[in-house]
Amino acid sequence: MTSTAKARACETPAARQKRVWDKSAPSYDKQIGFFEKIWFGGGREWLAERAQGRVLEVAIGTGRNLPCYPEDAAVTGIELSPAMLAIARQRAADLGRDADLREGDAEHLPFADASFDTVVCALSLCTIPHPAAAIGEMKRVLVPGGRLLLLDHIGSTWPPIYAAQWLLEQITIRTAGEHFTRRQLPLIQAAGLQVVETLRLKAGTIERIRAVKPA
Ligand SMILES: C[S@@+](CC[C@H](N)C(=O)[O-])C[C@H]1O[C@@H](n2cnc3c(N)ncnc32)[C@H](O)[C@@H]1O
Repeated sequence: MTSTAKARACETPAARQKRVWDKSAPSYDKQIGFFEKIWFGGGREWLAERAQGRVLEVAIGTGRNLPCYPEDAAVTGIELSPAMLAIARQRAADLGRDADLREGDAEHLPFADASFDTVVCALSLCTIPHPAAAIGEMKRVLVPGGRLLLLDHIGSTWPPIYAAQWLLEQITIRTAGEHFTRRQLPLIQAAGLQVVETLRLKAGTIERIRAVKPA
């Protein structure tokens, strides 16, 4: 075993995510821009239209939702990968958007209980190592009555597509921690959040969710 292989075998899931996304950062905008056109178009606008007040975006990546948020929203973002975060900071500066963007782990949010009116997470619970822990943290930092807004790709309702997604993730889970059949809705319900709006699109492979933390 080479020293790199040994180091990777001992890596924590979070360290692996950081390594994978630091490496992907320079090409991320180009790649995701293509999928935005053909797969989850309108999803970012859907999230941003529902975001209000003090907004926390978890795993903000390169900040692709930043142009969509209402001007009066106070946006905070956390992100594990410093390279992704650097692009988000540049995007915020280019937009003239005053956002508080910090390095952090979705599974251990560095904020007090009930600090935000809205929590947003896009295309990231598919890759966050322990999604139930992250959702628990999202609930903790929301005010009672606050909104959780999610957009993600999930397993299809059409069996042949689901089977292809399952096969693909046998590779991507090992190489990048990326899941294609993981679904967030049951985790949201198990966390005690009230689901008030869902939309499933593209052969059931895309899901948008609005949930509320009970008052
Ligand atoms: C597919 S990208 C999505 C980025 C962005 N949300 C978007 O909509 O374009 C997944 C992001 O999740 C981040 N991530 C993965 N695990 C994380 C964790 N535990 N805490 C914070 N961010 C994490 C990655 O670094 C990466 O930027």
